[in-house]
Amino acid sequence: MRFWIGVVGIIVSGATVGVADVGSEQRVLDLVGRMTLAEKIGQLNLRGRGSTGSTAEIPDELAEAVRAGSVGALINIMLPEEVDRLQRIAVEETSHGIPLLFGRDVIHGLHAVAPIPLAQAATWNPALVEAGARAAAVDARAYGINWTFAPMVDIARDPRWGRIAESVGEDPFLGSRLAAAMVRGWQGRSLRGPMSVAACVKHFAAYGAVEGGRDYNTVSLPETELRNIYLPPFRAAVEAGALSVMSSFNEINGIPASAHRRLLTGILRDEWGFEGFVVSDWNSVTEMIAHGFSRDEASAAAQALEAGLDMEMMSRAFEDHLTDLRAAGRVSMATLDQAVTRILRVKQRLGLFEQPYRESGSAAGALRQESLRVARRLAVESAVLLRNEGRVLPISSQVGRVAVVGPLADAPREQLGTWSFDGRAEDSVSPLESLRQSLGAERVVFAPGLEHSRSTSREGFAEALQAVASADVVLFFGGEEAILSGEAHSRADIRLPGAQQVLIRELAKTGTPVILVVLAGRPLVLREILDETAAVLYAWHPGTLAGPAIIDLLLGVESPSGRLPVTWPRGVGQIPVYYNHKNTGRPPQPERMIALQEIPKGAWQSSLSNTSHYLDLGMEPEFPFGFGLTYSTFTYGDLEIQPRQVRSGQTVTVSTTVTNSGDATATETVQLYVRDRVGRRTRPVRELKGFARYRLAPGESETVTFALTLQDLAYFDGDQWVTEPGEFEVGITPNADRPLAGRFAFLGENGY
Ligand code: BGC
Repeated sequence: MRFWIGVVGIIVSGATVGVADVGSEQRVLDLVGRMTLAEKIGQLNLRGRGSTGSTAEIPDELAEAVRAGSVGALINIMLPEEVDRLQRIAVEETSHGIPLLFGRDVIHGLHAVAPIPLAQAATWNPALVEAGARAAAVDARAYGINWTFAPMVDIARDPRWGRIAESVGEDPFLGSRLAAAMVRGWQGRSLRGPMSVAACVKHFAAYGAVEGGRDYNTVSLPETELRNIYLPPFRAAVEAGALSVMSSFNEINGIPASAHRRLLTGILRDEWGFEGFVVSDWNSVTEMIAHGFSRDEASAAAQALEAGLDMEMMSRAFEDHLTDLRAAGRVSMATLDQAVTRILRVKQRLGLFEQPYRESGSAAGALRQESLRVARRLAVESAVLLRNEGRVLPISSQVGRVAVVGPLADAPREQLGTWSFDGRAEDSVSPLESLRQSLGAERVVFAPGLEHSRSTSREGFAEALQAVASADVVLFFGGEEAILSGEAHSRADIRLPGAQQVLIRELAKTGTPVILVVLAGRPLVLREILDETAAVLYAWHPGTLAGPAIIDLLLGVESPSGRLPVTWPRGVGQIPVYYNHKNTGRPPQPERMIALQEIPKGAWQSSLSNTSHYLDLGMEPEFPFGFGLTYSTFTYGDLEIQPRQVRSGQTVTVSTTVTNSGDATATETVQLYVRDRVGRRTRPVRELKGFARYRLAPGESETVTFALTLQDLAYFDGDQWVTEPGEFEVGITPNADRPLAGRFAFLGENGY
């Protein structure tokens, strides 16, 4: 502490930021120069305990380890007094007074749980997502948490993967905008602010590309896909100033991410200029032995450190082996010093040397109004209206009786979703509770029919059917319990689990319209019951205020505006299905496809069009990327493109007019897509390059304009980022399924 008290004086004395930064960097280097080998290794250790034990008493052994300087950061300590005590030990009782980082997975809100990240991606509203992260940062800081293991920005194309719930969806452009927004939200305007929390962008990299959607599985990925699809959100997060990055569990093309030098050093630092530190995932260093990449823990430690990994989470290969590895010359002092420097730099940039402690008077445990407000807004804006036959929604407030059925109508814990360690079921407001409040309990008849989402028992069916007999409409709240998605919770069959489909069919037979509200951590295959429903509102796991948000939408107090951040499969066999796919040499021709049952017996082998599709599922997804209905309709005017021929350094402006042609005020999310017609590497059939939300009253129009630079059109061709001369198709559309109506050409230096 002695050393750093002096620093405050210098920084506060009015030096410019740049000079102060240079000075601070020098002080970090000086400090590293004065540390012993043991103290250095200590800084590389992230210790703590499992998420379930986060409020248990701190074992003496841990406090002693802090006192001995053998810990640089802690995880899952959610006792503010203990955080204070441990920080005091680190600052006042160790030789250099280096403060600790306290990390926690605050993934979508602390006590005020916001919708899961995939749902937040469905808002297409980076400013609101940023506000969600900011609110969570303030709540976490009250506990002394100064480092969060968020945002998770893995691109996910496979809904079987349970961690799609935590992801930003399938699109690199949308994902990048959201990644940057979340980093800004967590880290605040000034890193040194008392309410700033260091972000940890994870999982680097390509974790979402695990084979078959099975968690932790192998990733085989060409570099072009890695660069064009999976890395952009990480880069955006780094450019937004993210202070740390977490390596992923998976291997990529034979090399585990935690020892992937090309990723951790080549791309992250040499190319992107990242100056923060890289932490492993939980035990991912020693798991390299199981991967078959490391002989033993000592080798794992050496491989990880030399590749560019700076801090080890939970496993102790660094702690147990770096001293010997140093003595044997298997790791260099320069590498070790570099890792320590990066970690201390983050602590310094976060202002921890000057202010290591919690703000006095910060109220840990409180449910702050601002956090609730943002969580509710996110829940409203993330719900996607997938179907609304005969405009059954919104339900008129004059409706007689409403039957509420389904296992998730009143499941306060489940509506919080995965990774909600600090969410409290008692704070949740369920849809049932909100509906009763809005309509009056006498107009709501509740019979869940199923005890939980996986239940196969039909015992409750009779009561549910009886409830429907006296109702004008059925609200069925189905989906998945929280435990069915998230880490290590992959599913091979992603239909509504248990007997939910059977119950929905029974309810539909009554003739009373069934409105399905889905609470789930992933896109579920709805094919078999879609036609049984009058409407489908996909609410994901909406968090603490699921109730008021959903009921406001159903009753038309709010208007649905969510858009899909993923392409929706019609069947599991179609996965992966994503909008920015490549074409084949034989693209499907929908008009020439025939249903499996209609194939004539004895049909000639080549009579079925020989195009790329499934005989039994066709080619089209259930719902395209970017799709979502509103309570109104919108029309799009002609496309204007200026200029139609562009040269280096110029910008193409693409615009159109969007008009609310319906009878309700609603929000339209307009989307700009581009297709690069020809490349020396084949290009996707379309790519999102812009989006914007417009709230318009009936009859109101808005001119929508996007500017595209050549930089925006660049892609990684295997060697470098290029924008090749040639023709581009472009369109401003409400989802990824509509034709691209315009064209422009990039002429390059000599035409094309
Ligand atoms: C997860 C990470 C998480 C870490 C700490 C791991 O199992 O993969 O996302 O941040 O645990 O809880």
